[in-house]
Amino acid sequence: MKVLVVGSGGREHALTWKIAQSPLVKQVLCAPGNPGMAALGRCVDIGVNEFEKLTALARDEGVGLVVVGPEDPLSRGLVDHLTANGIKAFGPVAAAARLEASKSFAKSVMNRCGIPTAKSAEFTDPAAAIDYVRSTGVPLVIKADGLAAGKGVTVARDLDTAIEAIRMAMEDRAFGDAGNRVLLEECLEGEEASILAFSDGKTVVPMASSQDHKPVFDNDEGPNTGGMGAYSPAPVVTGALFEEIVRTILNPCVRGMAEAGTPYTGVLYAGLMITPDGPRVIEFNCRFGDPEVQVVLPRMKNDLVPVLLACCDGTLDRLSLEWEDGACVTVVMASGGYPGAYPKGKPITGIPDAEHETGAVVFHAGTGLDGVALVTNGGRVLNVTATGPDVPAAIDRAYAAVRRIHFEGAHYRTDIGQKALRHLRA
Ligand code: AMP
Ligand code: GLY
Repeated sequence: MKVLVVGSGGREHALTWKIAQSPLVKQVLCAPGNPGMAALGRCVDIGVNEFEKLTALARDEGVGLVVVGPEDPLSRGLVDHLTANGIKAFGPVAAAARLEASKSFAKSVMNRCGIPTAKSAEFTDPAAAIDYVRSTGVPLVIKADGLAAGKGVTVARDLDTAIEAIRMAMEDRAFGDAGNRVLLEECLEGEEASILAFSDGKTVVPMASSQDHKPVFDNDEGPNTGGMGAYSPAPVVTGALFEEIVRTILNPCVRGMAEAGTPYTGVLYAGLMITPDGPRVIEFNCRFGDPEVQVVLPRMKNDLVPVLLACCDGTLDRLSLEWEDGACVTVVMASGGYPGAYPKGKPITGIPDAEHETGAVVFHAGTGLDGVALVTNGGRVLNVTATGPDVPAAIDRAYAAVRRIHFEGAHYRTDIGQKALRHLRA
């Protein structure tokens, strides 16, 4: 079978890497892909929102399965479009992708289904929102309702920051229409974790736990990014907590979506805060986490393709997932200046040496070609990933690989996985 992967980041490289290992797969096509994905499949220069061209490619090539990586085409209805044209596609339809595309919609589902989450209030009028902040006080979390490329959330610990965040979203329209509505949310305290799960609309099959590192600098300092590294499993999610998350969050969400007439198929990603009172949902995402899936897939023993097909076909109840016992760590190497402005086109060396380290694989996130030379082409450039028998070994291997790679201005966090070590020592 031919499989088409839609997207061009580290998540899609990891998906392509895993899918290409399937004996069921003859060829992987990638649209638009990246130089790392080009080593595993055939890249076709079509953008993720070019629905007609993607559909024509899938039809002309006889693609048996399309796997959509990013949230933007999902929320715009790429899966609806492909399936209407008779092409099997993995991911939620637009009506279900609203779980990520509208935080207000997600809250209404959670409240209706009794899913534990932060208390919140919604506003379409900035003056009313500011009055609310003045009367409730801080800390408070301000969230633009719509998709804002991960930048629409401010955790405000003082009044000025809170009011400024409301003005930026609602008056300055920093996130466009995504800020027409704003949610003001109770600030949750605890440690974050990500649980990704497969869903076929009825059955939920969770993947191994993981943890992202969003702030740009060590010790969680500095501005938030798309994610500077991850590890799996996340020991903060004990076995009992994992069961509780499936029972009180994932299952009710999929049941509630089906009852509302918008069955959820694809990956349901729960971003969680593990609070002293139990797990609380920070957000739902409608896709594989990036960089979480880069550490989850290397630990997955199953062939991924039958799992994706089972989600599309409604037969997930016949499957169970198996995981390698060890751990996996990924370190993001970023361009100088990221998450602010950064240069592109810096030559990258050392990836083959890095991949000689035991258990290491390097996923491309923001790379390009200048002639035949590999160069930087994004903020997050590489996801340097390694498996190992335990978290400390995976950390050592990942950083040994990182030290072999060079490009001008490269920076990365040096403490990926340290939170896991604190739990393991305790
Ligand atoms: P999101 O874009 O929804 O993932 O939010 C970005 C980050 O903001 C999360 O990863 C959390 O670190 C933080 N955050 C969001 N909501 C809350 C909340 N209610 N309490 C505390 N932190 C939050
Ligand atoms: N790792 C955060 C995200 O994928 O949204």
